[in-house]
Amino acid sequence: MITMYGVIGDPIAHSLSPAMHNAAFKALGMDCYYAAFHVKGRYLHEAVNGARALGFGGLNVTVPHKEAVIRFVEADAAAREIGAANTIDFRTNKAYNTDAPGAIASLEDSGVKVKGRSVLVLGAGGAARAVTYGLLKAGATVTIANRTAQKAADLAAYMREYGEVFGTGMDNLREKVSISDIIVNTTTVGMGQDETLVTADMLSDRQTVLDLVYRPVETRLLREARLAGARAIDGITMLVRQGALSFEIWTGVKPPIDVMERGARDAL
Ligand code: ATR
Repeated sequence: MITMYGVIGDPIAHSLSPAMHNAAFKALGMDCYYAAFHVKGRYLHEAVNGARALGFGGLNVTVPHKEAVIRFVEADAAAREIGAANTIDFRTNKAYNTDAPGAIASLEDSGVKVKGRSVLVLGAGGAARAVTYGLLKAGATVTIANRTAQKAADLAAYMREYGEVFGTGMDNLREKVSISDIIVNTTTVGMGQDETLVTADMLSDRQTVLDLVYRPVETRLLREARLAGARAIDGITMLVRQGALSFEIWTGVKPPIDVMERGARDAL
């Protein structure tokens, strides 16, 4: 019998996760199918229980439900510390956060060492929480810069338990960029528009830029990074890695990353 998997979110229509996971299931000859489900907040708990009742193997949880779902699933220590889960495994009824390790894998698979590096995280929202946690656990020093400086300060204060982290506003961004080895954009700037917070003249060829935005794949920020000779890592790279980690949690099988990546890129 086919085993169902899925992603729940609101909105969800343009999710690349079905294409990515189904490509891996197909390549591995597994009798599994992954679908996207539009779930409103008021039905979140029922949707998770319903999927469990229907015998689903697991679920991905995406925006805006990653934080709320923590309240009624058994999350592992990292997901609890981040305050958000994106993966539920119904075999064990446990929940995990694969965004944090997915971000680290995006950098390390691209040949970028994280331990001991200075990282500038742009933004202090949900994505920044997971990324900052992952970076600190991997031994990086993190500066969180956010338009609303107080949110960066609050996030840094919360994350201090896990490593060396500072919170600031977006002022003097040029200087903050210049003293960083790695710059990660977790803001929505660049999503659907040709805008960027960091330009080529602020970057150099010894730096790495990771943009979590993947629509468009080639964001203005990544173009600026390449122009400066910096290493540019796109949002699909990260999306695929968090997805591959979910896949492995559910099935115990390491999926072919290249197959998942092609599935996602083809679906764009
Ligand atoms: P996510 O869950 O994807 O992290 P979010 O929690 O809504 O999304 O966070 C969005 C982030 O993008 C925030 O850090 C936000 O900054 P504020 O906290 O100041 O709102 C940032 N952001 C959105 N639009 C921005 C803009 N035009 N300039 C700078 N930062 C922006």
